[in-house]
Amino acid sequence: MTKTALLLDSLRAYLKPRAGEVPARFLDGLDGPLPERDLVPRGLSCLRLLDDCAERTGLPEQPLARALAGGGDELAWGQTYGAGDFGEAFLENYGWMELIGTRGHFASAAIAAGFLLLGPATHYPDHHHAAEEIYIPLTGGTLWSMGGAAPAARHAGEVIHHPSDVSHSMRTGEAPLLALYLWRGGDLAQRSVIGKGR
Ligand SMILES: [Fe+2]
Repeated sequence: MTKTALLLDSLRAYLKPRAGEVPARFLDGLDGPLPERDLVPRGLSCLRLLDDCAERTGLPEQPLARALAGGGDELAWGQTYGAGDFGEAFLENYGWMELIGTRGHFASAAIAAGFLLLGPATHYPDHHHAAEEIYIPLTGGTLWSMGGAAPAARHAGEVIHHPSDVSHSMRTGEAPLLALYLWRGGDLAQRSVIGKGR
């Protein structure tokens, strides 16, 4: 089995017991055969954080984080922003990898699923997008804010829902963040819009 197929298996195994917490409309697109694309792998500076993140996850999150870390240099990581958006230091501490989606390792037009990495002491400012989103942090300690509300610390395994076009932001403390994301509805390849949404 390829590393990407192992990661897909781990993702499905992690989400299966969470069917009561993650709305079915997000999970439906994960079932069935998903054709694999032959993507060119791409590494990023933030991947240095992966092994540390895999050590810091909650217990149920550990196999998934380890499968991601084990994907090593075969995965295509990306960044939405440039240095002009949030600065160079942000780019050294930020990246995402789309496992499923319109651009991901496994093709789907209905759902996007992937992972976000943020380094310690990193602020990912308010941004929003048309797709509604589920985030499940695999590591705890990050402050999450939605719709301009006061930031709140979220623990590993919590299910966070961001409705369409509602802005959200994250701020890490001493620990890095590894989070699983799911997108549905809207343009699944949309570049997030920086700033306040609705
Ligand atoms: Fe988002």
